[in-house]
Amino acid sequence: VDHVESDLVSVLFTEAQIQARLAELAREIEQDYEGKDLVIVGILRGAVMVMADLARALDRHVEMDWMAVSSYGSGTKSSGVVRILKDLDADISGRHVVIVDEIIDTGLTLSWLTSNLGSRNPASVEICTLLRKPEALTMPVEVKYVGWDIPNHFVVGYGLDFRERYRNLRDIATLAPHVYS
Ligand code: PRP
Ligand code: MG
Repeated sequence: VDHVESDLVSVLFTEAQIQARLAELAREIEQDYEGKDLVIVGILRGAVMVMADLARALDRHVEMDWMAVSSYGSGTKSSGVVRILKDLDADISGRHVVIVDEIIDTGLTLSWLTSNLGSRNPASVEICTLLRKPEALTMPVEVKYVGWDIPNHFVVGYGLDFRERYRNLRDIATLAPHVYS
């Protein structure tokens, strides 16, 4: 039996807090894109939960598309190289795009994606992330919608994994050091 709770130090954001914050971001997005065609792009796999809940919080038409990317090297993002594992199905030329992810850590993934999608002649490209770790950023990323800035702790749940576990937690929690050390 897995005792998930003993792996966690504390809950950072509950399911209810996450849903409430996403509803606020959804209201901002509705205002900013009123009368405009909008495509939201979720970054597999971590963004699955945020995409599902943000999309359902939006009281308007929205197209949902997906990309999967990977950094070269084994999990470390030190090389600074990103490659596309699954590209968009949609042609975003002339369209408004919001990239949706659950966390910005070093910023590599979203800075690379912003410029990659930006080169496809979209009407605009913005970022929505549930979490951001300002202390971990190694490159500037302009983010229009942020749920919360958090300290540089190991967090899991609501899409965030450690070795593919904990993604399915409803809350976001800090992982106990005995799990990863
Ligand atoms: C994680 C997370 C973000 C990215 C953030 O994804 O979901 O997409 O890293 O880190 P960065 O700002 O340092 O680039 P990961 O590549 O681990 O894959 P996953 O979404 O499948 O978990
Ligand atoms: Mg990811």
